[in-house]
Amino acid sequence: MLKSPESHQAVTNLKSYLRLFSILLSLGAALSTLLLWAAPAQNQSFHGAPASARAMKNPYAGQSPEAGRASYQNHCAKCHGVSGEGTGNIPSLVTGGSQSVTDGELFWYLTKGDVANGMPAWNSLAAQDRWEIVRFIRLLGHSQPGSPRVDPPAADADAAAGSPPPQPPFTDYRHEKPGLFRKITLADLPAPFATESAGNGPQVVPRPESAWPQVPLGFKVEIYAADLDNPRLIRTAPNGDIFVAESRPGDIRVFRGITSDAKPEKSEVFASGLTRPFGIAFYPPGPDPQWVYIGDTDAVLRFPYRNGDLQARGPSEHLADLPHGRRGHWTRDIRFAPDGEKMFVSVGSASNIDDPDTHPDEKDRADVLEFNPDGSDMRIYAYGIRNCVGMAINPITHDLWCSVNERDALGDNLVPDYITHVQEGGFYGWPWWYMGNHQDPRLEGKHPELKGKVITPDVILNPHNASLEMTFYEGKQFPVEYRGDIFACEHGSWNRSVRVGYELIRVPMHHTGEASNEYEDFMTGFVVDNGHVWGRPVGVTAAPDGALLVTDDGSDSIWRISYTGK
Ligand code: HEC
Repeated sequence: MLKSPESHQAVTNLKSYLRLFSILLSLGAALSTLLLWAAPAQNQSFHGAPASARAMKNPYAGQSPEAGRASYQNHCAKCHGVSGEGTGNIPSLVTGGSQSVTDGELFWYLTKGDVANGMPAWNSLAAQDRWEIVRFIRLLGHSQPGSPRVDPPAADADAAAGSPPPQPPFTDYRHEKPGLFRKITLADLPAPFATESAGNGPQVVPRPESAWPQVPLGFKVEIYAADLDNPRLIRTAPNGDIFVAESRPGDIRVFRGITSDAKPEKSEVFASGLTRPFGIAFYPPGPDPQWVYIGDTDAVLRFPYRNGDLQARGPSEHLADLPHGRRGHWTRDIRFAPDGEKMFVSVGSASNIDDPDTHPDEKDRADVLEFNPDGSDMRIYAYGIRNCVGMAINPITHDLWCSVNERDALGDNLVPDYITHVQEGGFYGWPWWYMGNHQDPRLEGKHPELKGKVITPDVILNPHNASLEMTFYEGKQFPVEYRGDIFACEHGSWNRSVRVGYELIRVPMHHTGEASNEYEDFMTGFVVDNGHVWGRPVGVTAAPDGALLVTDDGSDSIWRISYTGK
């Protein structure tokens, strides 16, 4: 059948109407997505800033943003960093919330502060100062995110030189030394606010020529890899390849083998375009995994994998959304139960100490979550764990263990960070309580029914150490007394008047799988003085040859610790 030219015309018209209609439809859909996306951003105002704050105009908007530089450096850099990069739970001012809100909201927030969460109130600064600082924050927004390298300090710049020695059993960087053992008990904890809450973030400098990591006698340290971009968690694949999350650029790297001068034989990018990846796990457990799981800050993903792959062999599969938000602890570690039946994912709190009862963004955070390996059936495995950054399975008892960052702003020697086995259904205190049934004075009277339920962790660390990844040493290279011991990375303090941490520690497990609340300084030497550091340990794993590999996002390298017996 031939169509008449008219009917052909009619069909064409109908088609173009349909096309127009579908364009309108998709425009509508796009618009509503946009509105949906914009709406929560508006409702969830910046730290609860009122509409009047949003509307305030910066009277110095016409002025050079440089005017606020000196005030920023004097008052803010010691916590937020010289270029606004942030550290730990101190937010970046370069990216994130600060750059997407109005000058008025920033001014309002600075003025009020959030003392419970560690951000001072700046109403003591003249209004002009505060507005100029707000202008300067805009300038920071145009700089490159990342830790800037500032000039190394003059040799005599150590502001801690005049500080009194630490009150034992607590310590600080001046007294950390490989081979020293530490034991802190509940009886040693001071009262809250016994000292002021410090603002003493590290400024990262290049490694001074004379500096090198220090380890106990008989061990040797070399650089395995350098010039990385924010190397964080490190994990050994069943075939011996070494996987590293470069969180800031969103890459997963693989290293293979070792040359005679201790460098990788191969280095490849396994996957990229991820969202602040951290956790890495191989599934199913055992010698022949089929998947690599990745803990992005907002989701659990997995890539298909076979032993020997240096690049993902297919696109990732999205298994589960994870609680996340505009602010807060962003690392997500992943581990599987030894039988492969369950997947554990650790999700830190959104804030230092906000009450989840009144802060919806704390829902399902400060927890270890449990899922089926396909991402279904999420439930809370253990709670009140402020920020379990690193998880590991105890090779003897098969328990899940956590390396945890506790809270800030209660003084130099509160609250200790810790390493512990995690009990199913266990409550670890945050935010209403802390170890030993102490109530946090900032949440006085809240949840009395939880008193008596707060589990005391197995290993109490120095407060503000910032304990990150941990591993059980199952290598064969170190002397037999190290077999089964925990190694953990202490990224280092900001909320302590004389800095502490910035080391790799060892927790003896006595070949029993049980800790005795003691730990040893194992690799130290990254601190220049009380203001400057050149290295910050993040991740630790044993390589197939039994050497330890330690990532360091201060010098952006991987250190290799081997045993020589000399
Ligand atoms: C003692 C350490 C400390 C000092 C000094 C400090 N801050 Fe903060 N600041 C924090 C902490 C901790 C937070 C996060 C609070 C929270 O968890 O909600 C924060 C949050 C912020 C935020 C909110 C960012 C966001 O995305 O939510 C801004 C903006 C900010 N600070 C600006 C400043 C400025 C400007 C100064 C100097 C006038 C300053 N801070 C000084 C510790 C500090």
